[in-house]
Amino acid sequence: MPSQISVSHLSKFYEVHQKEPGFLGSLRAFFRRRYQTVRAVDDISFEIGEGEVVGFLGPNGAGKTTTLKVLSGLLYPTSGDITVCGFRSFDRQNEFLRQITLVMGQKNQLIWDLPALESFEVNRAIYEIPRGDYQAVLKELTDLLELEPVLGKQVRKLSLGERMKCELAAALLHRPRVLFLDEPTIGLDVTMQARVREFLAEYNRRHGATILLTSHYMADVVALCKRIFVIDRGHLVYDGELDALVERVSPFKYVRIVTQRPLDAASLARFGEVRSVDSFEATLIVPRDRTSAVAAQLFQSFPIEDVTIEDPDVEEIIGRIFTEKILSQ
Ligand SMILES: Nc1ncnc2c1ncn2[C@@H]1O[C@H](COP(=O)(O)OP(=O)(O)O)[C@@H](O)[C@H]1O
Ligand SMILES: [Mg+2]
Repeated sequence: MPSQISVSHLSKFYEVHQKEPGFLGSLRAFFRRRYQTVRAVDDISFEIGEGEVVGFLGPNGAGKTTTLKVLSGLLYPTSGDITVCGFRSFDRQNEFLRQITLVMGQKNQLIWDLPALESFEVNRAIYEIPRGDYQAVLKELTDLLELEPVLGKQVRKLSLGERMKCELAAALLHRPRVLFLDEPTIGLDVTMQARVREFLAEYNRRHGATILLTSHYMADVVALCKRIFVIDRGHLVYDGELDALVERVSPFKYVRIVTQRPLDAASLARFGEVRSVDSFEATLIVPRDRTSAVAAQLFQSFPIEDVTIEDPDVEEIIGRIFTEKILSQ
C-alpha cells in the first residue's frame, strides 16, 4: 500500500513566555523575558496508507491536536519531514488543501447567523467546486447525515449534534482524500456519537478516504480503527493494531458462569483467579490462551446454565496504559 501520510522525525516545540506572578513579576518579565520550551511533539515518525483509519490516543496535553495541526499545515513544524498526498503540508499549496480537511470538534467553521447551506456555498466558492459536483456531493452528504430538515435553519439554532453533522458536511464538500478529525464526537450524546461514527465508516468505505482521528470516546476508536497510535508527552509510544495492544496490556479474559447450584470462591479457585462470586454467578480471570480449556473444565465440574467469555473493557485498558505508564519511554 503506498503511503498517503508520511511523517519522519517530526517535532513541534512551543516557546512559552514565563511570567512570575504579580506586578513585580510583570515588570521583571518586561525587562528580562523568560521562555520555556514545551516539547508538544517530540520526534515522531509514522506512515499511513491510503484508505486506512487510524485512531490517535493519548492523555490531555499529549500532543494530538498539535500533530493534526502540523499535518494539515496550520502549524509549521520545529523539525522533521511530513508528506501528505505527496505534498509538504507546511507549504499549504492549494492543491494540497483541496485534498485534506481538518475538523475540530471544539471549533466551528460554520457562520453562526446564517443557515448551514450558506456556509456550504462559501466553501464551494473557496474550493472552486464545480456546480454539478457540488450538487452531487451535497446530496450524498445530506442523505448520509440526514441533514434535509436542518440545512435551512440558522446555525445558532441547531442542537450540538445537528451542528456537528453540518460541520462534517462543510468539511467534506470538496471531497478530501485525507481527513484529520480532532474529537469529532465531543459532547454529543451516545446516539449522535454512534451516528457520526457510522457516517465516517461509510464515508471511508465509499471513498477510500484516509482518516486520522482522535477521540475521548473509546467506542469511536473501537468501531472505526483497526490501527492506533498512542502518544504520551510528545512521544509516539505505540503504533499497531488495537487488538494487539489490548492483548499485550491485558493478556486475560473474563469467563463468567451461571450455574444451577450456589458457587463458592474456594471451589472455583483452581480454575483461575476469582474476580467475583455471587451465589449462582461467578467471574474468573483467565489467561487468553486458556479460556476455552477452562470453560470446558467448568462445564465438567458444575451444573452450568450459561458461560460467557468477555474481553476486558477497552476503555479500562487504555485508562490503565496512561495511569500506570505502561508504554512510557
Ligand atoms: N499554542 C500553544 N502554545 C503553547 N503551548 C501549547 C500550545 N498549544 C498546545 N500547547 C501545549 O502543547 C502540549 C500538547 O498540546 P496538544 O497538542 O493540544 O495536546 P492534546 O491534543 O493531546 O491534548 C501541551 O502541553 C499544551 O499545553
Ligand atoms: Mg487536543
